Amino acid sequence: MKPEVKTPLLVCSKEKIKEKYRLLSSCLPGVQHFYAAKANFHPKIIRIAVSLGMGLDVSSPGELRLAEENSLPGEKVLYTQPIKKEEEIALAKEYGVKALIFDNPQEAKKIARVWPSAPVLLRIKVENPFCVVNLSEKFGADPAQSKDLILFVRDLGLRIRGIAFHVGSQTTNPTPYFETLKIVRRLFNIAAGEGIYFDLLDIGGGFPIAYRQPIMAAESFFQPIRATLENYFPSTEIVSEPGRFIVGDACYLITKVVGKAIRKGMHWYYIDDGLYGSFSGKVYDHADYPIHPLKEGERKPSVIAGPTCDSFDVVYREVYLPELDVGDYIIFKSMGAYTWASASNFNGLEKPQLLIEEEEIEFQIL
Ligand SMILES: Cc1ncc(COP(=O)(O)O)c(C=O)c1O
Repeated sequence: MKPEVKTPLLVCSKEKIKEKYRLLSSCLPGVQHFYAAKANFHPKIIRIAVSLGMGLDVSSPGELRLAEENSLPGEKVLYTQPIKKEEEIALAKEYGVKALIFDNPQEAKKIARVWPSAPVLLRIKVENPFCVVNLSEKFGADPAQSKDLILFVRDLGLRIRGIAFHVGSQTTNPTPYFETLKIVRRLFNIAAGEGIYFDLLDIGGGFPIAYRQPIMAAESFFQPIRATLENYFPSTEIVSEPGRFIVGDACYLITKVVGKAIRKGMHWYYIDDGLYGSFSGKVYDHADYPIHPLKEGERKPSVIAGPTCDSFDVVYREVYLPELDVGDYIIFKSMGAYTWASASNFNGLEKPQLLIEEEEIEFQIL
């Protein structure tokens, strides 16, 4: 690596993003993928996702603007935030998004006030012991009460097109997907019994990537989901909202050791990114990124701490590292999703620069 690399630096591979999108498309043929902008909303990442043909899952006016900047037609945009301000609904209406998501009567009334015949999907909640990030406590209607909600929004005049769910992020076992799909099929049938014919199913995101622990091969993971979709929804339009799976393992972070101390007999290495920056994903997303010190040597229990003045800013405790010096680099892999996106400027520190490997990088590290 050239010595003048300005760290922290997030290096993302366009080829890897393409590879992950192709893998997902081959594992789930016929499903249209809407990249979840929240995973990494950097304009360079959005541009790549859109250039590959993905739509966008947006959850705020700022993310909707990214769709606009990339000239995405409304048909390729899903507004997935279940709770929205009226101003947001108005913007989504003006954009002509494919569908808005809701999960409760108050939200449905709000949507109907602003966009009387809006296309909507009802998000249901999912029981899932296999996810790392549960997304069904804060959001999602109880499937048992969904019939009433479906009839309610129909009577409000909204165009209810189908059901959405998110099994939870980093779901490492496919069972919750196909169990939920069975519930969704029942809801499609109940709606049809009332003369409401659903034509759209949103299976959300949640697809896993490997961090420090291995995961199932993608083909084995997706096979039962694909089979269930083909079996239960042969003629329904199906969309997904992958975030982590697309961008998570397409990026690595280069950090520099900026300080070193021995405390209670342990080496403490202070690096130039931390829990208030890219490693915010350790706090919010519970991710455990693989560590690659660019040095060999006997490994000793060590601590990696971030650059801020807060004692909370300890990134790894008791990890085994060779002895490092100030100025050495440490690389962290699988850092594309929920890292840069949730990093703050606490202590006046800048977020890492994000570069695209094939377009903007001259050195070879990994
Ligand atoms: C509504 C919604 N869709 C999609 C995603 C992306 O999920 P993942 O990164 O697990 O694929 C999220 C993540 O929080 C979400 O809340």
